Amino acid sequence: MPQALQQSIKALLKKHNAVLLAHNYMRDEVQEIADITGDSLGLSQEAAKTAADVIVFCGVHFMAESAAILAPEKTVLLPRLDAGCPMADMITADALQQFKRQHPGVPVVTYVNSSAAVKAYSDICCTSANAVKVVNSLAANEIIFTPDRNLGQYVARFSSKKFHFWDGYCPTHERLKPEAVAALKKSHPDALFICHPECNPAVVSLADHVCSTSGMYDYCRKSSATQFIIGTEAGILYRLRHESPDKEFILASPALICPNMKLTSLEDILSALETLQPVVKVAEEIRIPAKRALDRMIAVPRD
Ligand code: 13P
Ligand code: SF4
Repeated sequence: MPQALQQSIKALLKKHNAVLLAHNYMRDEVQEIADITGDSLGLSQEAAKTAADVIVFCGVHFMAESAAILAPEKTVLLPRLDAGCPMADMITADALQQFKRQHPGVPVVTYVNSSAAVKAYSDICCTSANAVKVVNSLAANEIIFTPDRNLGQYVARFSSKKFHFWDGYCPTHERLKPEAVAALKKSHPDALFICHPECNPAVVSLADHVCSTSGMYDYCRKSSATQFIIGTEAGILYRLRHESPDKEFILASPALICPNMKLTSLEDILSALETLQPVVKVAEEIRIPAKRALDRMIAVPRD
């Protein structure tokens, strides 16, 4: 059955000159059929440069919004409109404006896990892959960092700037406790612990390497280690195991499942391609300032 569905999806992708982008946390069968899988930064960049007319975005709402901001001439489909991100919902544009009034003149760095409206009130965006570079590219010696306090605290380790953190967090990554990591490290003394910077600082302190989801593939592929304890959402295991079949990957906690990232099924994708709905679009008065913040991020040199 999945194979028949996958074939129908492929035929419709071709018919509509559509591209299927999938985040690294998507269900295995969705990643399997994707034209491109990646992290938030990689997928935004693919959306910006694709020659396709239709982007089927398999991820959560803020990711499809970023695609709609960067590629307004394309039809951006989000097969499940209810796939949101609780962290992104922890800050609103009104709340950010109020926070800015408390820190006049201080530039705002906003993690892409945020609504288009919040991006529109931000000076620059960042992802987990480029946050340190983005923050250090700013001339100001004080910044507001929203909405992820954990990513903010991680970045602050590499910056001399003064940070004003928003108190947001990812409920999925926050469920990983340092005690669970310490126990796994004890039972697997040769394993390296790799985690996402959305983890709590107490967990990040135990890590051998901290990086974005796509950074994990590169790191684990190139590492001479053969055992890894993985501190991010379970969907990452699909490609890790596929790319390094001779290595062992241990999920740091069974609680590392983002319910929103697991919503999109092959049936949802098929239905989106049959109806060309639901479409994610951003009003021009929000899209233009939000794009400015995303463009500034993309312009930050990588190395
Ligand atoms: P990445 O940009 O590392 O893929 O992270 C996105 C995300 O939502 C992590 O929870
Ligand atoms: Fe949001 Fe966390 Fe899910 Fe990523 S894993 S989409 S940050 S809730």
